[in-house]
Amino acid sequence: MKSLMIQGAKIIATGSAIPSSSFSNHEMSEVVNTSDEWIFTRTGIKERRLLQGNDQSVVDLAVLASKKALNQVAMDPCQIDLIILATSSPHDLFGSASKVQSQIGAFNAVAFDLTAACSGFVLSLVTASQFLQTGVYRNILVVGADALSKWVDWSDRSTCILFGDAAGAAILQSCSFTHNAILSFQLNTDGNYSKYLSMAYEQDISPHPKLNIYQGYFKYISMNGKEVYKFAVFQVPLSILKCLNSLNMSVEEIDWLVLHQANYRILTAIAEKLSISKNKIISNLHKYGNTSAASIPLVLDEAIQNKKISHNDIVAIAGFGAGLTWGTIIVRW
Ligand code: UT7
Repeated sequence: MKSLMIQGAKIIATGSAIPSSSFSNHEMSEVVNTSDEWIFTRTGIKERRLLQGNDQSVVDLAVLASKKALNQVAMDPCQIDLIILATSSPHDLFGSASKVQSQIGAFNAVAFDLTAACSGFVLSLVTASQFLQTGVYRNILVVGADALSKWVDWSDRSTCILFGDAAGAAILQSCSFTHNAILSFQLNTDGNYSKYLSMAYEQDISPHPKLNIYQGYFKYISMNGKEVYKFAVFQVPLSILKCLNSLNMSVEEIDWLVLHQANYRILTAIAEKLSISKNKIISNLHKYGNTSAASIPLVLDEAIQNKKISHNDIVAIAGFGAGLTWGTIIVRW
């Protein structure tokens, strides 16, 4: 989809943060009936970082990632106009973005959470780019942070082996139209399949005795892995192609494929469908597992620090997950 651009937008800095405790597949096999061999061959994951103990939260990770991004460009936090925190595991259901705002000292920024599970970072980047390209704001901090270790059923081996905790941040800045780097985006939702991946609200069986109000709680993550797998491998290549078509670009022009780090088999199947060399897939899934909204900024930040992605490279970024929601952004770095 083309936006009404007055200004351009570009990503000027990235940062990321992970918990200090790593948790290997071998350690996982002491919690549920699984093995390093099964997890690695089916997913590509070797270990993940988990928020163990109670001295660090998802907000702390988001704050650390944000500070690293700010330091990278020596930006005063007061220059940030908007903070979007993509998370599905906030510390507060009213939103955690305001806590990030206060802890980094971004006192001029308005801050809100965006809930879109593993597509949250892509949707937040698109949202931020709209505020920049229409000339409303100058600097926006986008953070993807999740701590799904708090929400998995640690007795369900089909889900608990997949997820890790992390945060990643990016600072977007408006620029002249000719220097625009957020070239195009393509977003989708199909709520008919939301049942395949959810963290649903469960109502108590009986209401308040005087008010007839049912209260409840949120259940653990439930997932139909096979259906989510098929959906991702079918829909993500189509989304990337639609996005490229809107720019009259060919698949060959993509330098790097930065996909939501869900499963290495999904990443390679998507690349194969697009006839993109596996060498163009950027992945760090073996170290961190699926970190939901954090996975894309986490892997992006690593690739930038390692100087893998360089100036003018064309990067296809695609997210997919619960909703079901999926989408692509094409960025010129
Ligand atoms: O963030 C976006 C959302 N999530 C995803 O992208 C996940 C997408 N799906 C997947 O990545 C894969 O479907 C999984 C990795 C979750 C599962 O891989 P699979 O190849 O689809 O395995 P499966 O569910 O078909 O299970 C195959 C077998 C089953 O045993 P039987 O019925 O064949 O005897 C499972 O019970 O593997 C068993 N199994 C396990 N065995 C050892 C399931 N989980 C495990 C486990 N360890 N952790």
